Amino acid sequence: MCGIVGFIGDQPAAPVVLRAISRLEYRGYDSAGMVSVSNGRIYFQKDVGSIADVQRKHKLDRLPGEIALAHVRWATHGRVNRVNAHPHFDCRKQIAVVHNGIIENYQELRAELEGRHKFVSEADTEVLCHLMEDYIEESGSLEEALLRAMDRLKGSYAIAMVSSREPEKIVATAKDCPLIVGLNGNSHFVASDTFSFLDQTNEVVFLEEGEVASLTKGGVSFLNRHGEEIAKEGQKVDSKWEEATKEGYDSFMLKEITEEPQAILRALMQDRGLITELAREISRARQVVITGCGSSRHAALLGSYLLSKLGGKLCHVLTASEFHYFTDSMAKDTLVIAVSQSGETADVIDGVKRAKARGVRVFSIVNVVGSLLARVSDKVIYINCGPEICVAATKSFIGQVVIFYLLAFALMGKLEEGIRKLELVPRQIQENFEQIDGKLKELAQRTKNENNFFYIARGLNLAIAAEGALKLKEISYIHAECMPAGELKHGTLALIEEGTPIVAICARDDTFYETLNSVEEIKARGGYVIGICAENNDSYDEWIRIPEVQEIFYPLVAIMPLHLLAHHVAVARGKDPDRPRHLAKSVTVK
Ligand code: M6R
Repeated sequence: MCGIVGFIGDQPAAPVVLRAISRLEYRGYDSAGMVSVSNGRIYFQKDVGSIADVQRKHKLDRLPGEIALAHVRWATHGRVNRVNAHPHFDCRKQIAVVHNGIIENYQELRAELEGRHKFVSEADTEVLCHLMEDYIEESGSLEEALLRAMDRLKGSYAIAMVSSREPEKIVATAKDCPLIVGLNGNSHFVASDTFSFLDQTNEVVFLEEGEVASLTKGGVSFLNRHGEEIAKEGQKVDSKWEEATKEGYDSFMLKEITEEPQAILRALMQDRGLITELAREISRARQVVITGCGSSRHAALLGSYLLSKLGGKLCHVLTASEFHYFTDSMAKDTLVIAVSQSGETADVIDGVKRAKARGVRVFSIVNVVGSLLARVSDKVIYINCGPEICVAATKSFIGQVVIFYLLAFALMGKLEEGIRKLELVPRQIQENFEQIDGKLKELAQRTKNENNFFYIARGLNLAIAAEGALKLKEISYIHAECMPAGELKHGTLALIEEGTPIVAICARDDTFYETLNSVEEIKARGGYVIGICAENNDSYDEWIRIPEVQEIFYPLVAIMPLHLLAHHVAVARGKDPDRPRHLAKSVTVK
């Protein structure tokens, strides 16, 4: 949700910043902007559209100077228009600010400032610019003014600013939003995600809550929340630079779906000792709560079925945005497992902080190395699936699911055997993909004008059905709903009409015949059944084959066809699967 990059060094900053911010497009693409400082003057450009659109129109990379900031926006306060795009300014355009997060008390602050200051946008960020304008007159420096302004702000923020009054520096701070400083000799970065500058340096400093960083060519210094100078050592992030390109695919989504078999193998690359230790803690904990949002919550749901079915441990799944309503009843010997691709999702971080405040231990299952969630957790398991750029989660979902398989096998004391079995699955998924992709494209053409889809399954596969429905609605904008097959007759059956598409995951396991009963009930009411199954059945109007596997592995082989179906329907409807409207990849606001 909004991305920030800043750079200061011995070379023109704008091209460097443009390259870095382009890698953060996943954080927002409704508008973008850049600001630079040269010879004590501020230069900027901003507009509606993605960073590539704004670059094409305004040649951002030609802004002069060796200091620059850039921003990609996902609108929270104020419509998507040029004025609301970042950077924002004080009245005299001496201070330029880029911001990720939400200033919750901006209305009060605006009311207070409005008589004396001229507001030009609807953005919450602008109150900070005008606060800075007041405080800089009284304070000796940008840093001091910022610390005073922070006392007035409620909410979450990652902020970077430049000023023509102190043209040799970038000042930055963060609270509940990620901000990372990158150190590279005389060049320094500040960014929402290390991924933006990892090709230049992997030496980083994570800004902790309320700390202020000042970046100059001479070096980077840090202040704590009280304005005292603090020493912060750079650390090497242990992740390799992987340029995320589409590699000839039409979209990142399609590329990332095709990487799913590989993602299983990469997720299997774990420290066995850590998995066994975590399984032991799961087994000992009085209560286990698994939390996440969106696709990560679906992985959590499947995890709860696996831990129950294989490991005999009953776990509760809490949607992260609802987590805090349950915190009061969490005993100390509860274990929380937080699942997140980005490791930044504000609702997840909030839940984890609340749990930790009660003395609860927290494990996390994360993709982005060094992310906020990874840092606040007691233990972290990385899924290792590499950068996932598409807003819709695909390969990260399967990676998260694999970790739950490992934990469940470890709970059974059969980790090695489980790994050996899991290693066989990717090849089956790959071979099946080659057989079914053409059929899924035809199906997408046939169903692209539908208004509603329903997804049903039972048991382990329920989470997969939920994931399929989320993916379809997210990128194709068709309403899609998932429910346990057994729930249909308790209400939703009333919506089934002649031709209504229903995707039914009919795994050849102990749920098979009961799921088929639900399929029959749908058929009797004219529904159009798309059966996801290892074998065809007269009850299916369309059969999408999945390979025959051991019962517990059906979720793994059923994911890819559903991700592909969603992708193909979106494309058939002329939608860009990589940039679903109104959404962003990292949801850093609550
Ligand atoms: O980074 P996270 O895994 O915490 O993100 C959680 C959700 O925002 C995410 O899964 C979202 O639902 C995706 N767009 C789903 O495709």
